[in-house]
Amino acid sequence: MPTPHPPVYFDNAATSFPKPEQVATAMDVLLRSTALSPGRAAHAFSLTAGRVIFAARELLAAFFGCPDSSRVIFTANVTEALNVGIFGLLRPGDHVIATGTEHNSVMRPLRHLEQQGRITVSVLPVSAAGETDPADLVRCRRPGTRLIVVNHVSNVTGTVAPLAELAALKEGALLMVDAAQSAGLFELDATGLGIDFLAFTGHKGLLGPTGTGGFVLGPGIDLPPFKMGGTGSASERELQPDFAPDCYEAGTPNTLGIAGLAAGVRFIQETGLTTIRSHELALTSRFLDGLSQIKGIMVYGLPTRAGRGAVVSFRPGGKSVDEVAYRLDREFAIMARAGLHCAPLAHRGLGTFPEGTVRVSFGFFNTTDEVEYCLDALARIAGA
Ligand SMILES: Cc1ncc(COP(=O)(O)O)c(C=O)c1O
Repeated sequence: MPTPHPPVYFDNAATSFPKPEQVATAMDVLLRSTALSPGRAAHAFSLTAGRVIFAARELLAAFFGCPDSSRVIFTANVTEALNVGIFGLLRPGDHVIATGTEHNSVMRPLRHLEQQGRITVSVLPVSAAGETDPADLVRCRRPGTRLIVVNHVSNVTGTVAPLAELAALKEGALLMVDAAQSAGLFELDATGLGIDFLAFTGHKGLLGPTGTGGFVLGPGIDLPPFKMGGTGSASERELQPDFAPDCYEAGTPNTLGIAGLAAGVRFIQETGLTTIRSHELALTSRFLDGLSQIKGIMVYGLPTRAGRGAVVSFRPGGKSVDEVAYRLDREFAIMARAGLHCAPLAHRGLGTFPEGTVRVSFGFFNTTDEVEYCLDALARIAGA
């Protein structure tokens, strides 16, 4: 009997695994050594927790090119950040432009507001490879366009949006970027690019734990608080403080998770974004090459690694995507994902709605051996 292959995790676009050892250590040490309620008391444990949060805020501000760390706001994930931005920034009568690759964490709040008759939404077309053409943004822009939402890297095709070109065309509108799949892979300079609302999640490419994320609020952007309560500051007042970050962060924060997120970002800085990206794109490249040799497989997105993140979507010839993902898992211990990946809009554009695709997404800790093993498994499934 052949030795079974160790489990292979290829679902890093959902959440990265494993996390760097430093992340587990930072969380373990903190949990065992101190209480985690920051800014609420003057005792040593509260001060320690406050320093952890402050250091993480400063780290993320530097990481995302934000000169004022008080404009980095922590949330539970990118979905919460995007909801806060969409519900907080839009006013009745506003027009919104979204790319055709947006995740439901953007489309559902937008469609909800649209259904209530409060906003109108234009969706930019995507090419067969999932590309957005900046000329379409110019065509859709109107005097009432208040917000442009760009998914930086598609979680379906891995296609990278032309962020700098789109940003240069925003004119009087606000630019919101969903960096769920790009943070930790690509450099993101919120100030340099003129991003007004940069939403990130902590548990994917930033290598932190689930339950972490946030947004970077551009200078001068007026966003109302989305929840109110104890902040440990201005406690003599029954009204919410009016200064960032406190006005947005009522309630005891996820100190433990934020410490883990900071450790993940430090790991990225020590390793280097270029090193991480080269490794993940080398795996992507080899996988794309290998898929092209397997009969009947149709790959979506760009044909080579250029213009891609480390996500590959494909459809097997003559088999359902569910069957392939199921067999990869049960027969080969390879964890991939089948379906719409919470992005039905992107699949409509690609022509893969409603069945979706099999999605394989690589992380820094994946190896070439795992890619070869997966290609071999897919060839066997295709042949069987
Ligand atoms: C592009 C994109 N946006 C938003 C999300 C939502 O991420 P989270 O579940 O961390 O809020 C995801 C993750 O699936 C994503 O890929």
